[in-house]
Amino acid sequence: MRFGVPTSKDPKAQKALKSAGEIPRHIAIIMDGNGRWAKRRGMPRIAGHTEGVESVRDIVEACGQLGVQYLTLYAFSTENWKRPKDEVSLLMRLLLKALQDETDRLHTNNVRIRTIGDIAALPTEVREELAEDIRKTQNNTGLTLTLALSYSGRWDLTQAVKRLAAEVAGGSLLPAEISDGTISRYLSTEGTPDPDLLIRTSGEFRISNFLLWQLAYSEIYITPKFWPGFRRDELYAAIQDYQKRERRFGMVSEQLPSGGGEGNPVQRFIKSVTGP
Ligand code: FPP
Repeated sequence: MRFGVPTSKDPKAQKALKSAGEIPRHIAIIMDGNGRWAKRRGMPRIAGHTEGVESVRDIVEACGQLGVQYLTLYAFSTENWKRPKDEVSLLMRLLLKALQDETDRLHTNNVRIRTIGDIAALPTEVREELAEDIRKTQNNTGLTLTLALSYSGRWDLTQAVKRLAAEVAGGSLLPAEISDGTISRYLSTEGTPDPDLLIRTSGEFRISNFLLWQLAYSEIYITPKFWPGFRRDELYAAIQDYQKRERRFGMVSEQLPSGGGEGNPVQRFIKSVTGP
């Protein structure tokens, strides 16, 4: 990857991480603590969000370099609309500026941009910029960066149920035909494997209405670091922790193979529960 210049020890750290174990295919992040980061420094909340964008830049770059295939960032939740009007509008402006500043570089680095959420609720300028950025990067084959915007897990399940119900009412789908896989296909994350690793910053032990269905088997990593202080070294620590976990998907240790491989039954099972 030809992202910015990594620190001299960085390629070494990345190489060590890659040879130590599996790099998660899909990482999802609840970026929390921007406000508290700023407050601790006697700064306005928006300063925390601005510094948070720097963390986004660093984490996207490091994920691309590590070969993570999917990164999903909880950038703005359905509930975030309830924040003071000024903060919401500053967040939207910050998002717009970050997209305008970064998309060309992301495109050069083969990153595909996607969104999940109630995009129609976003300001027109943001919607137009996103549509253009998604179109521009749609054929890229490197990291898929999904921005969850005006998103919540309950919103996602509700829109999926509405569409499923319409199909049943129209007679094109029988209730008996509905399986796990059918529901996954109606969610906004359709076509994306479920997250292997969920990271939450700022020390809160909550899922906060993020990917409620998709996180069923994800490993969870919680760090006390506030999001603006979460940079690539913290990401590496999270992946190291993930590499020590034993993912059993409801089975017992003895059923797990010591080696991987697409052909073995556990690998096939993992694929069947986490998606394509
Ligand atoms: C949580 O901190 C953070 C957010 C609600 C917004 C995250 C947005 C960004 C990092 C900037 C734009 C994003 C992209 C993808 C360019 P908080 O405000 O809830 O912090 P607090 O819990 O300490 O109050």
